[in-house]
Amino acid sequence: MVKLERVIASAPAKVNLALRVGGIRQDGFHPLDTVFEALDLFDDVTATPAAELSMEITGIGADLPCDHTNLVLQAAQLLQRVTGTTRGAHLSVTKRIPVAGGMAGGSADAAATLVALNALWELGLSTEELMELGAQLGSDVPFALQGSVARGTSRGEALEAIKPGAMHGWVLLTNPVGLSTPAVFRKFDDLSPDVGEPTSTQDLCRAVEGDDLAKIGQLLANDLEAPAFALRPDLAEIIVALQTVGHGVVLSGSGPTIAVLCKISQLESLSAELANAFPELSVVSAVGPTAGAHIRQQN
Ligand code: C5P
Repeated sequence: MVKLERVIASAPAKVNLALRVGGIRQDGFHPLDTVFEALDLFDDVTATPAAELSMEITGIGADLPCDHTNLVLQAAQLLQRVTGTTRGAHLSVTKRIPVAGGMAGGSADAAATLVALNALWELGLSTEELMELGAQLGSDVPFALQGSVARGTSRGEALEAIKPGAMHGWVLLTNPVGLSTPAVFRKFDDLSPDVGEPTSTQDLCRAVEGDDLAKIGQLLANDLEAPAFALRPDLAEIIVALQTVGHGVVLSGSGPTIAVLCKISQLESLSAELANAFPELSVVSAVGPTAGAHIRQQN
């Protein structure tokens, strides 16, 4: 068989329609009940054969470290370790998903790396096997591989697919200054020391199977809003100002990205309106749900 010379894989950003958080576990993670939706905003990873592992980043995250702290190299090393392959690769990441934005950009890059190298190195791993490896890299990586809409429990990696009843428009207000996920969870612990199990997202899951955006909008919720707003009061002001816009508004993940749900037909006008109202933020429009990590091109 002819060996591949280049594989390009894409993986999506996510928004959490709900992120319900329980009290911290012994392993330092928090039990979650969350609903993820994959958006049509993708990072790409281009993998080419090389003797060793190396990586570079172009696009919005060009200043991020390209060493062993990057999930891209961690994903490649994990694949080498579990499969025993001696092959290497150069990995070039094109980033479009905001960095430290609560949209799982780092997890998307890890997911795209797993998919690209599985093909380049002819490893033949199934999506389920890649998802198991992905869970070792980060709580959001299995969802970046699966895509569409899913309920996530445990620390977010245990997924139950949800069949969505409609496509959704999202106007994303991304912030130039990111937020650290561990810092937001630590603030959550300070503010809610006695919390038990996370609130159930079952009602939202049923609503997402239907096509009533107003109903979905009413059930958007994020328990990390209070700690994120305590760290960044500017975000609270923005979300208050957006209460009557679209069908609902929610902080995405641990923030600082704020997501407004709307009809797809409203996306263009609402994006223009919000770009005008918040000139200090970047406004991005997206549609969901979309596919998980996949190969876009190989030759
Ligand atoms: O799993 P991931 O590496 O993306 O998590 C990053 C950090 O977010 C963890 O180190 C932890 O501080 C926090 N986290 C958590 N509970 C979760 C998921 C993440 O406390 N369920």
